Amino acid sequence: MALLEGEHLTKRFGGVVAVDDVSFSIERGETVGLIGPNGAGKSTLFRLITGVHEPTKGQVTLDGEVITGLKPHQICHRGLVKTHQIVKPLEGLSLLENAAVGAQFGGRNPENPMERAHEVLEFVGLDHMAHDDPDELSVGALKRLEIARVLATDPEVLLLDEVAGGLDTDETEEIIDLIRDISDQGKTVFLIDHVMRALMSVSERVFVLDNGELIAKGTPTEIQNDERVIEAYLGDSAARDDIGTAAGD
Ligand SMILES: Nc1ncnc2c1ncn2[C@@H]1O[C@H](COP(=O)(O)OP(=O)(O)OP(=O)(O)O)[C@@H](O)[C@H]1O
Ligand SMILES: [Mg+2]
Repeated sequence: MALLEGEHLTKRFGGVVAVDDVSFSIERGETVGLIGPNGAGKSTLFRLITGVHEPTKGQVTLDGEVITGLKPHQICHRGLVKTHQIVKPLEGLSLLENAAVGAQFGGRNPENPMERAHEVLEFVGLDHMAHDDPDELSVGALKRLEIARVLATDPEVLLLDEVAGGLDTDETEEIIDLIRDISDQGKTVFLIDHVMRALMSVSERVFVLDNGELIAKGTPTEIQNDERVIEAYLGDSAARDDIGTAAGD
């Protein structure tokens, strides 16, 4: 049985259909990438899954149970969490306290939030800065803190919304290594990114959204060769080269 399933998910904002009849399923332990142009509906789809928005139509199932209608914190307690596309550390709290808040309030097992916070900061490579303030961090470190905050809740499924966005090449490599480590722990990962090479290198399957619709699902190689994807999403030859190189890795 699939761990995470979406059935006919639709979200309208007034006249805009941000997500249009999207159905998908993800197996336990899988790493799946989600790509699509700006405004395609990727973040909205993630918000439908995590209960930030209620779908206009359709439902989400986690481990066989319908989670649509639950609040984000209730979904988090069931082991499904999402990072924010725009990172939002809690101001005035140290990195350690930021991670501890995740463990304390989102955690399924919050006996020792501080210990858990140290563990996850170490895992993302930030424990040496545990007592620093988040506003001293580079973009790359902020993204890693965002991952630490959700990992602190001890999730089974992580939805990562552009955790490599705005990073330089080295920082992107580090984040991808981190995602691979998370995946190697058996966690299920669903990630959005515009950095094609990075996303393709870590994803077993890729979904493509265009204008709210899921236009393709497949392995990175299948996606690279899908004419509809190339036409709708990649269009120009530079992007075609980019996706071609990425999938060829
Ligand atoms: N809360 C909202 N109210 C009204 N319209 C919204 C809202 N959230 C998203 N939209 C619209 O829904 C569409 C999809 O937006 P969304 O943010 O999901 O796209 P995205 O694929 O994540 O884009 P990006 O790559 O730029 O992050 C856009 O037209 C956007 O303007
Ligand atoms: Mg987005």
